[in-house]
Amino acid sequence: MMSRQMLATDEWDDAAIGALLDRAAQLKAGRDPQPRALEGRVLANLFFNPSLRTRASFEVAMLRHGGACIALEPGKGVWGFETRPGVVMDGDAAEHLVDAARVLGRYGDLLGVRAFPSAPTWEEARRDEVLKIVAREAGVGVINLESARRHPCQGLADALTIREQLGTPRGKRFVLAWCWHPRALPTAVPVSAALAASREGMEVVIARPRGFDLDPEDMRAIEAMAGRNGGSVSTTDDLNAAMEGAEIVYAKSWGSLRRYGDAESEARGRAGLRHWRIDEDLMARTAGGQGRLMHCLPLRRNVIVTDGVLDGPWSVVTDQAENRLHVQRALLLDLLGDA
Ligand code: CP
Repeated sequence: MMSRQMLATDEWDDAAIGALLDRAAQLKAGRDPQPRALEGRVLANLFFNPSLRTRASFEVAMLRHGGACIALEPGKGVWGFETRPGVVMDGDAAEHLVDAARVLGRYGDLLGVRAFPSAPTWEEARRDEVLKIVAREAGVGVINLESARRHPCQGLADALTIREQLGTPRGKRFVLAWCWHPRALPTAVPVSAALAASREGMEVVIARPRGFDLDPEDMRAIEAMAGRNGGSVSTTDDLNAAMEGAEIVYAKSWGSLRRYGDAESEARGRAGLRHWRIDEDLMARTAGGQGRLMHCLPLRRNVIVTDGVLDGPWSVVTDQAENRLHVQRALLLDLLGDA
């Protein structure tokens, strides 16, 4: 029987996510550690893109519960995959992802997939075809390890971190602060973080320069989540004003979707925006000057956030990264465990 999937947190209801977060907090506290709960179970992860936290934390999570995890990198010691349907495979790719997913589903009890957007247009990239092929063909449950649209495990860790830091997040200000970066980065993390804060009923403020709006369908999902949970969502291009009274500042860069796939246009679009960077003066505007700084990592120091903020009292980025491990332990126990 096919196990449950974690492709997007917004496909899970509030009670299920709440239970996952409660269990993650228990595991982090060392209560009910269940060291053999996943004995004999195998997680097989496919990384089409690099990773430190996702890869290491899933391997450690399986180890902590007596299971095993393998990580495969297509094109690096593993065949390069074709993903298009119906294509005559007379190019470089030696194997179709459909076949690879079917085979890996016979070896693993659960598969993970990381596949950033790579299609030439956002219209194509936003369909998340690689993730969908694996989810459709594997015959076992699949975890999204970050796709074009969602990074659910990051969103779960974000939610746990917000709860730890604020106790009662409802009604408090969460600022998703766009930051300058030399490259166009995916929108999965900012969308997933905004979904997490919205589910907590926070006042979500998305501060971004004009031209850097998130995907309209993802915005509707964030707004619907906020609406169901007593939160609110607004968008501004005034970062200084947004920071006033913020309890959480979530720094993140992302690419302009209307310039997607056009590096020259993207560079023009972000020219003159290097001042969109979180520094000590901006953090001083937050609630009591003591707002928390979050980021999913990896992060370019002094480009996205200054050393002074990252190494100062505001930053919770290492706790946030640690929480990846605990939420994923809870998720794996939910998807693969007996209890
Ligand atoms: N935050 C995150 O997903 O980190 P990695 O890219 O290192 O996995």
